[in-house]
Amino acid sequence: MDKVLARGSGSAVARSRPRTAVLSMLAGVAMVATTVAVATGASAGTTLGASAAEKGRYFGTAVAANKLSDATYVGILNREFNMVTPENEMKWDATEPSQGQFNYANADRIVSHAQANGMRVRGHALAWHSQQPGWAQNLSGTALRQAMVNHITQVATHYKGKIYAWDVVNEAFADSGGGRRDSNLQRTGNDWIEVAFRTARAADPAAKLCYNDYNTDNWTWEKTQAVYNMVKDFKARGVPIDCVGLQSHFNSGSPYPGNYRTTLQNFAALGVDVQITELDIEGSGTTQATTYGNVVKDCLAVSRCTGITVWGIRDTDSWRASGTPLLFDGNGNKKPAYTAVLDTLNAGGTTPPPTTPTSTPPTSNPPTTPPPSGNGCTASFTTNQWQGGFVTTVRVTAGAAPLNGWAVALTLPAGASLVNTWNAQPSGTSGGLTFRNVAYNGQVGAGGSTEFGFQGVGTAPSGTPTCTAG
Ligand code: XIL
Repeated sequence: MDKVLARGSGSAVARSRPRTAVLSMLAGVAMVATTVAVATGASAGTTLGASAAEKGRYFGTAVAANKLSDATYVGILNREFNMVTPENEMKWDATEPSQGQFNYANADRIVSHAQANGMRVRGHALAWHSQQPGWAQNLSGTALRQAMVNHITQVATHYKGKIYAWDVVNEAFADSGGGRRDSNLQRTGNDWIEVAFRTARAADPAAKLCYNDYNTDNWTWEKTQAVYNMVKDFKARGVPIDCVGLQSHFNSGSPYPGNYRTTLQNFAALGVDVQITELDIEGSGTTQATTYGNVVKDCLAVSRCTGITVWGIRDTDSWRASGTPLLFDGNGNKKPAYTAVLDTLNAGGTTPPPTTPTSTPPTSNPPTTPPPSGNGCTASFTTNQWQGGFVTTVRVTAGAAPLNGWAVALTLPAGASLVNTWNAQPSGTSGGLTFRNVAYNGQVGAGGSTEFGFQGVGTAPSGTPTCTAG
C-alpha cells in the first residue's frame, strides 16, 4: 500500500531536481504547477513518502479535516505523504461530545481521504487529560474510569482494521520529578494507563498501540526515564504496548538534543517500535534544515524507528505558525528543511541493531488497605451500566494471611457476555465465570488488595462475588 515505485530510479530523478528547481524559479508559478504534475507520477526518491518507503519507513503529516477542500494543501498531501494523523478530529471532545453519543464525521473524512489515496492512518488520541469534552472533565473516580474504557472501546471498534497505530495514551507524565502528571484520569488510579492499553487491544487487536509524549527526546531528562521505566514495566508484565511516540516539538526552550538517537535506540531495545509522531522544529533557513536532517538521520539509524510524522503541512497550517516550524512555506513552496529531509532520506543510512540500554528497575507501591480479620479473601465490585453494556471493577482483598493466588467467581445474567478483561484471566464468557489472578497480581499481602475489571455486553452481574484463596 505504500506508494513505492521502481527502486533504483531515485538517484536519476534526484539528479534532475536542481534543474527542475531552477526552471521553476525562472518560469514562476506556471512552472511550479507543472513540477507538481510531474512529481505526482514520479518515481521513488522524489517525494518524502516514496523516499521513506524505500527505507522501509513512512512519512506522515497531521491533517485537519477542514483543509481537505484547500487544493494546494491536498495537492501537497497527496504528493508527499503516505501516513496521516487527524490533528484534532479523533480526540475525545471531537468523537464523544456528549456521553455515549459518538460523532465520527470529520475523522471519517480524513480516514476516507487517506484510504482513497493509499495512505495509512495513525489514530490520535484515545485517552488524554487535554481536549476532553466538558462532561468528562466533570467526571471522576469509577465513573470517569468506566467512561474512558467505554470511549476507547467504542472509538477503537469504529476504526477497527483501519488504523496502523493508535496513540492510546497521550502526555501522562509530568515534565519534571519523574512521576505522573496530575489529571482527572490519573486520579482514577495509577493503573489507568494499562487499562487503556488492554481495552484498546481488545477492541482492535491489529493496531499497534503507542504511548505518546513530548519532552521525552533527551535521554538524560527525568521525564524520558520515567516513560522508559513504564514501558519496561509494561513489557515485563505483559501489558500490551507496541510503540512509543516521541512528539518532538522542538524550539529554543525544548531543543533537539544531541542524544536523540540514544533515546530512540534505548526505547527500541525494550522491544517496541519508535515513531516520531508530531515533528516540528521552529526556525528557518539552514539552521532549521540541518536539525531536520539530523532528526531524519537518527531515525534511519535505528531499525525500529518506523516512521516520521510532521505536525502539519505548511507553516501557516502549524499550531505554532509564528515559529515557521514545518517543511513548506505558507504558499506551499518547499523550504530548505524539505530538501534536507528528502536528501537525508535518499542518502539513506545504516540501521545497526539497537544498543543495550542502561536503566534503573521500576518500583511499585504496596497496597495500603488495613488487614481485615480471617484467612482467605473477599471480593466486592462496582459497575457502570449503559444501554447494552457495562464495565465492572472488582476489588480482591486478602484476609489476615497473604494471598498466593486468588480466584473470584460470579455469574452473568442470561444474555450477558464478557468482551474484555484486564488484570485477571477469565474462564468462560457467559453464565458462571471464574477470574483468576495473572502473574503479577497473585501475591497480595495480608489485608492488601488488588483490582481487576471486565467489560461485557448485556446486563452487569449483581450480588456478592465469591473469592477463594490459592
Ligand atoms: C494540537 C493541535 O495541533 C491544535 O490544533 C489544537 O488546538 C491543540 O492540539 N500534542 C499533541 C497534539 O498530542 O494533539 C497537539 O495538537 C499538540 C501537542
